[in-house]
Amino acid sequence: MPKMNVIVDMGTSNVSVFCKNLLLREPNIALIRRKNGAELVAFGSDALNMVGVTDENCSFICPVSDGVIVNSEVAGLIIAHCLNKVLSKKLFTAIKIYAVIPCGLSVAERESAEAAFYKAGYKDVTLVESVLGFLPFVDGAGTAVADIGGGTTELAVLTDKGILSGCSLNVGGKEIDRRVKDKVLDIYNLAISEFAAEKLKTEIGSLYDNNAASMSVAGRGVLDKSVRREDISAENIKGPISFCYKKIVDVAESLFTTIPSGMVRDVAARGIYFGGGGAAMHGLQDFVTKYLGINAYIDPEPETVILRGIDKLIESGKTESFHK
Ligand SMILES: Nc1ncnc2c1ncn2[C@@H]1O[C@H](COP(=O)(O)OP(=O)(O)OP(=O)(O)O)[C@@H](O)[C@H]1O
Ligand SMILES: [Mg+2]
Repeated sequence: MPKMNVIVDMGTSNVSVFCKNLLLREPNIALIRRKNGAELVAFGSDALNMVGVTDENCSFICPVSDGVIVNSEVAGLIIAHCLNKVLSKKLFTAIKIYAVIPCGLSVAERESAEAAFYKAGYKDVTLVESVLGFLPFVDGAGTAVADIGGGTTELAVLTDKGILSGCSLNVGGKEIDRRVKDKVLDIYNLAISEFAAEKLKTEIGSLYDNNAASMSVAGRGVLDKSVRREDISAENIKGPISFCYKKIVDVAESLFTTIPSGMVRDVAARGIYFGGGGAAMHGLQDFVTKYLGINAYIDPEPETVILRGIDKLIESGKTESFHK
């Protein structure tokens, strides 16, 4: 019976499982009931559909915070659930997991990531920094890459041997959502949910100037507490969005100071390759060029580039830079 390689990304916003070109991708949220231990009642979009209709023994838990698994018990339940969906364990003698992690995890954080897989019954686990997933798509001589996720942005300069220099920045889509929510409160006196803020960001948010789009959103009035709708303009939420992308661009620039000075010019000339859900923000390419004076390349399918890249590395046996 064959051995199966499975790539699992337990992200702050989404769980992705990639196996033989089959992709499962769901919001990383579990509805958990506690009686004698934790029981997974629902997961992902099924769990989100149960908001407001659960009993008091149930709670919604996201086991990942800022890219790090903080609840390995719940993470283990999610992993077991997702892998059961994707694989029929009976068909394989061995399953090898490649688990996507951020750059620069501490030993304890790595152990916590591994523990989640062990709890799910998977013992053969190799940790892989997400930025390595860009390797098959960039020039191995030295290229800057950025994975903009929900909780973190992973930045690195890669060579064909792996990560020359990298860092993990606690800025991602969730911070943008919180800031958009605060902005709507400030300007419109309207309290909206972070889900609504995320929808505003993904549907009308952009880094371009003079964006005339707007979107109607429901919320609660601050003064009279009544539920009402407002047309939110893209111009009014541009500030919090560009603030966060500017932080990312600033850290990308400082990353260039950590590589050998003889390489800086060549690395800058190659530009930065972007992936992760946050790379889909309209206007990112021009924004990066405006602030850094270098080219930006956005992967055409930014949400899956890391998984596809790691899969390519495994298939071609180029796994020297993975953690055994
Ligand atoms: N069109 C879009 N524009 C801007 N942001 C987007 C867009 N589509 C999705 N996002 C954001 O991308 C983020 C999710 O990306 P991704 O799935 O790569 O994160 P993750 O891997 O779960 O998180 P992390 O890597 O930080 O642990 C969310 O914050 C989501 O709002
Ligand atoms: Mg990610």
